[in-house]
Amino acid sequence: MSHQMSDQKKVKLWDFPVRLFHWALVVAIVTAWWTNRQLMIDIHAIAGYSVLALVLFRIIWGFVGSSNARFGSFIKGPDKVIGYAVKIPTGSMAELTYAGHNPAGGWMVVVLIVLVAIQAISGLFASEDTFLFFDGPLVAHVSSDVARIMNWIHRTNINLIYVMVGLHVFAALFYLVAKRENLIGAMVTGVRTVPVEMAARFAQIRFASPVVGIAILIVCGLIVWGMVTVARG
Ligand code: HEM
Ligand code: HEM
Repeated sequence: MSHQMSDQKKVKLWDFPVRLFHWALVVAIVTAWWTNRQLMIDIHAIAGYSVLALVLFRIIWGFVGSSNARFGSFIKGPDKVIGYAVKIPTGSMAELTYAGHNPAGGWMVVVLIVLVAIQAISGLFASEDTFLFFDGPLVAHVSSDVARIMNWIHRTNINLIYVMVGLHVFAALFYLVAKRENLIGAMVTGVRTVPVEMAARFAQIRFASPVVGIAILIVCGLIVWGMVTVARG
């Protein structure tokens, strides 16, 4: 008997706020990185504040958002992570597919969020005294020792971001090319195409209201904007 490709079904995977968060984060980080090189420090700062607002939103959404956006649903213990990692090379798609982040990817998500948060927060205390003469909004509120350490963190941590984003994008491309699984498209459209027999696990996702998500994001933006404005005095 010949084996036919099983029927495929489109299933909803990522809510709109998660997707907006992801691609806005990418745009903001690339903007911050590029404007630094072009010495457009005001745009650099705005991009950095945007990262801060996005991260704040994502942390809240990790507790009140859709079930598969919640940290509790994708942060797994070392046994699960190792058990998953060893299956990546040879495992079937049925074994490797989660209706959210897989146990290995879940930790990458945490690492990326922490690293970009460290970058944005350290930026608030960073200064450039050579030819831009720019102080982050919190520099005036801390000792010069603290400011110096924050400057160092800001210059050093970006290298960790390069490495981890590199691994992250490599993993996404690996799934696309080696596993023929388009996780990137799912992060764009929110929809993934899976064999019908896998659809049941996606039907269990409980989606939170996207309107509530956007409202939280706007409030996070206002909080960061207010904080920066107050700190600037
Ligand atoms: C500055 C660069 C990037 C950062 C900081 C970043 C960060 C993140 C974060 C934090 C998540 C978790 C999403 C959530 O649950 O809210 C994520 C997921 C994801 N990212 Fe990125 N990302 C970056 C660039 C990219 C690029 C360029 C691609 C595409 C090639 C990509 C593809 C994905 C995919 C496919 C997922 C979902 C993975 C899964 O299905 O579990 N990312 N990324
Ligand atoms: C996640 C967001 C951010 C990213 C990715 C980022 C990235 C960078 C990079 C790559 C540099 C160059 C470091 C070097 O010279 O090697 C830099 C420098 C700098 N950034 Fe950011 N930054 C971010 C957020 C911020 C924020 C929010 C502020 C302040 C409002 C800020 C203020 C500065 C300053 C003052 C410098 C110059 C520091 C120096 O020359 O030592 N950054 N940033």
